[in-house]
Amino acid sequence: LDNGLARTPPMGFNDWNAFGCDVSEQLIEQTADYLVSSGLKDAGYTYVNIDDCWQTHSRDAQGRLVPDPAKFPDGIKGTADYVHSKGLKLGIYEDAGTETCAHYPGSLGHETTDAQSFADWGVDYLKYDNCNNNSDGTRADYVKRYTAMRDALAATGRPIVYSLCEWGVQNPWEWAGDVGNSWRTTGDISDSWSSMLNIAKANMPLASAAGPGHWNDPDMLEVGNGGMTDTEYRSHFSLWSMMDSPLLIGTDLRKATPQTLAILGNKDVIALDQDPLGKQATVVSSDGGRYVMTKQLANGDRAVALFNAGDQAQRIATTATAAGLPHRGGYTVRDLWSHTTYDSAGTLAATVPAHGTVLLRVSAGHTSRRNPPLLDTGLAAGA
Ligand code: GLA
Repeated sequence: LDNGLARTPPMGFNDWNAFGCDVSEQLIEQTADYLVSSGLKDAGYTYVNIDDCWQTHSRDAQGRLVPDPAKFPDGIKGTADYVHSKGLKLGIYEDAGTETCAHYPGSLGHETTDAQSFADWGVDYLKYDNCNNNSDGTRADYVKRYTAMRDALAATGRPIVYSLCEWGVQNPWEWAGDVGNSWRTTGDISDSWSSMLNIAKANMPLASAAGPGHWNDPDMLEVGNGGMTDTEYRSHFSLWSMMDSPLLIGTDLRKATPQTLAILGNKDVIALDQDPLGKQATVVSSDGGRYVMTKQLANGDRAVALFNAGDQAQRIATTATAAGLPHRGGYTVRDLWSHTTYDSAGTLAATVPAHGTVLLRVSAGHTSRRNPPLLDTGLAAGA
């Protein structure tokens, strides 16, 4: 959607994966505090997003949505003011049906009123779901319901990122480029290897639909929630970054381990997701669970993922030219998880653990910043 927003995939937090309906002003504000104190805000995480269950069960006498006063004693406006005071932005959730998925009032037929409430409250991001939609099941109906809220948001004059959540039902990658800033491409993620893998595979072929302002959304991150190993979570984060996915943290940051923070805070990996060219990775090859993916970057580098979906360690190999780099005498390779740099004549290969990903950033030409010369090591060893 050409509304000037989400020129790179949105980054932030959403409470749903870790908390379900247990959302509150306190949680949102503590998360905002933590994003600042942990350095994650500086790493790019900006939106603090409220998911379903923030409302009361009925509208007020003027037909407006009402935040649950027990959960949000200062309302959405007060919560937004707090989040803004931290230099962050606030997101909210609604639904293009009569009720949200958790059966709170939906926005179908109330788009203008509800968009105005969001704008009045200082909301910066809307996730718009698809439950209880009274649909006749046609694509035209989906386009109409999602376009109605797009236009209502635009009419408020407030910049609000518009995130479509219709779970890939009507192939939104075929029509939503000028309706939303992102669209979910699949059903809901859960905190398991098989869920993450199936969603990744479904999202991989959709690269041509993505670009600045309009992104494929393979759903929010499960990193840190405990159902996968850290190796699997690194794959999850690597794949989502390669695929220019929105990076919405879905774990309780107040309890996050150093390992979780190291994954979510890896700036070299985030830089792939946030690369200004906005080119989602494509699959170079996949066989026997060995995936090679390549992503074009604005400075001419390529990101290359060697992803092992198999249950045994295996060697995965490609070449710089197969990954789209120009013919050169040599290449500089940076491993974005081990933080090592080395030269290659053209082969890009690694033995990758089961469910693991080796993520490389490759530049044409040898590095000028070599490792310390061997001579120094020899002298220091006193041999
Ligand atoms: C749907 C969405 C989820 C979440 C829930 C809330 O399932 O896909 O991401 O927002 O609704 O009820």
